[in-house]
Amino acid sequence: MDKGRQPIDDSEWPQAGRERMIVPAPVGIEGTDIPDRERILLGKLDARHVMMMGDNPALPRMPAKPRLLDFFQLRFQDVTRRHLLVSAARALEAGIEEKVVLACLLHDISNGCLIRSDHGYWGAQMIAPYVDEEIAWAVRYHQCLRYFADESVGYAYPESYHRFFGPDYVPPDYLRRDAEHARGHRWYMTARLVTLYDIYFFDASPTPDPARFTDVIGRHFREPEDGLGFDGSPTAHMWRTMIWPNNFL
Ligand SMILES: [Fe+2]
Ligand SMILES: [Fe+2]
Repeated sequence: MDKGRQPIDDSEWPQAGRERMIVPAPVGIEGTDIPDRERILLGKLDARHVMMMGDNPALPRMPAKPRLLDFFQLRFQDVTRRHLLVSAARALEAGIEEKVVLACLLHDISNGCLIRSDHGYWGAQMIAPYVDEEIAWAVRYHQCLRYFADESVGYAYPESYHRFFGPDYVPPDYLRRDAEHARGHRWYMTARLVTLYDIYFFDASPTPDPARFTDVIGRHFREPEDGLGFDGSPTAHMWRTMIWPNNFL
């Protein structure tokens, strides 16, 4: 998907004929060397410069009633899209039950286009109105369980985490506490299975076709009639933020 292409004629898009200025979300630039341009861009406002609101012509337009796979195809970053599809495909091929396959497909959904920090908690909240409680629970707790080995099911601390965070990284207390809670919960194995298929495959194999999961989604994800983002659910705003990630307000 060519997400970075600017159409030459933008007359079909909101705020046509003006430069749409984007102020990146604070959570994405705080503590980095990416400059906070808000003050500078506020100073540029005039008849020809506006703050971006609504559809960004640099992104593919979303359907009026977006469905889950529309976010996979039109919004998610490449690495997350591939990671989720491969994780779910491996679980499906292993004959794991469908609700776990869906949990694998959704487990890092927040990283795809919303927020990385505490992604399991954000992702679980986002999907909660549309899936069985057990699926959202597994997405929430996969994050903390990733840091703690369980030899009895063949789960070891990820080698990738040594590279990501350094070999001396110690997970914070809240993750340790939540992992202990998960360990004693009746849905522990659902979340643990998500961590077992939570593997980064950077090989040359093709990315699975999202359409492979249409049936699983149809059976276990309640797509709202008005589309994700427009159904008035407690988390509709999270889906709208992914549709319009560059809105100033
Ligand atoms: Fe994750
Ligand atoms: Fe993951």
